[in-house]
Amino acid sequence: MAADQTGDVVPPSLSAKAVGSFAYLTVRDRLPTILTKVIDTIHRNKNKFFEEYGEEGIQAEKQAISLLSKLRNELQTDKPILVLTDGLEDVDTWNRYLERQQGQHDDQEVVSWFKSPWLYVECYMYRRIREALWLNPPISGYDVFNEGKTQSFFESQQATIALCTYFEGFNKKMENIPENLLQEYFYKLLQVSLWGNKCDLSISAGVDNSQKISPIESLAALKLFILVDDSDALWSTLVTARLQTQSGKRSSCRVDFVLDNAGFELVTDLVLADFLLSSGLAQEIRFHGKSFPWFVSDVTAEDFHWTIRQTMAANNRSMSQRGVQWQQYMKEGVWSYHDHPFWTQPHEFCDMEADAPDLYATLQTADLLLFKGDLNYRKLTGDRDWDHTVGFETALRGFAPAPLCSLRTLKANIQVGLQPGRGNKLSSQEPDWMTCGKYAVIQFYSPNSDKQD
Ligand code: F6P
Ligand code: MG
Repeated sequence: MAADQTGDVVPPSLSAKAVGSFAYLTVRDRLPTILTKVIDTIHRNKNKFFEEYGEEGIQAEKQAISLLSKLRNELQTDKPILVLTDGLEDVDTWNRYLERQQGQHDDQEVVSWFKSPWLYVECYMYRRIREALWLNPPISGYDVFNEGKTQSFFESQQATIALCTYFEGFNKKMENIPENLLQEYFYKLLQVSLWGNKCDLSISAGVDNSQKISPIESLAALKLFILVDDSDALWSTLVTARLQTQSGKRSSCRVDFVLDNAGFELVTDLVLADFLLSSGLAQEIRFHGKSFPWFVSDVTAEDFHWTIRQTMAANNRSMSQRGVQWQQYMKEGVWSYHDHPFWTQPHEFCDMEADAPDLYATLQTADLLLFKGDLNYRKLTGDRDWDHTVGFETALRGFAPAPLCSLRTLKANIQVGLQPGRGNKLSSQEPDWMTCGKYAVIQFYSPNSDKQD
């Protein structure tokens, strides 16, 4: 049971209302645009499919487009959400979730696109895109978002070089760096990873959103826009873990990144992970990504390995050296990539312990969890219409496998943990402050600390 902002304990379903009216607008405005782009991309690649698979490729292209056009029509005309029948391994989970949604509806009202929580239908759309391709071999494995993701990587190349050069500047002398300077580097790389989340392609419906200027130089000016900054708590969690490792109280420190977007954001995450290892703050890093193309720019295994290979192959020494190092980390197993199906399901994270106990148990063995991006924040907080002063812990509703931190630029109508009055002031000055991607949070919660909401 969760407590509301007055302290009253209320059942989770009543503790806050789903983001209803916003859902309606977003489904109608943004999702069809994304679907249209998906259809265009498949059509544009018709010749490629023909060259690779002959007539079979052309047939598959036509069939996939027909399924996606049907999906767009269902979405635009508020048709019922359909059960999945494509035989993929997660079908039962999705269908059970639909039943759960049905259970929350009044009497006979059917679960449809406009009358369901935004989080659910948005996730469902990406699962149906997966279905449309999966049902059409030989293009079943085609990543319809790949072009945008690779383009975003290449268009951010100068920013990546600037970041790798900055990193190389102090990485060589890491052993002699005084603690206060180490902390300063950590804060900077943390903020670079935070602002890397501006570069997702879902908010721009696939239009270029890459980083063009030096990410380090822009940090000072951006600081003002960080609404919650729990960097100190994060730093002390890492320093405590390091002390315990050094004194033999724990064998090592593991940090898990729950990744968000490919392109420049992923590069910033890899640089931060690199720093955690080379500074001795962590000894192992696990990356959690998506098992199929998701929310336009999210990282899949293919994107992850491709990014490391491209970084290695770069024409710039600082950049290629990072790539070589990252490949080495992968080879040694101190870095690893994981893609549990739960990350591509619609569940809020407070459901994880019951619905994906194996994943929850894995996260419990980490010393720190870094959740990247907006969608992860929505799932952490249940995508509810919380009062802005409600504490992060309350909004997490019991999800606390390990100390965790959200690094998120705001793109959806949820924000908790603000000082009284801050949200109202922002709303009166900038009505779109929660959705424009200009603001960000570094928001931390530890089940081990006494920090109260
Ligand atoms: O705002 C549109 C949107 O698709 C949201 O639904 C989603 O939360 C966000 O973009 C994706 O952002 P991120 O890549 O940071 O999770
Ligand atoms: Mg994303």
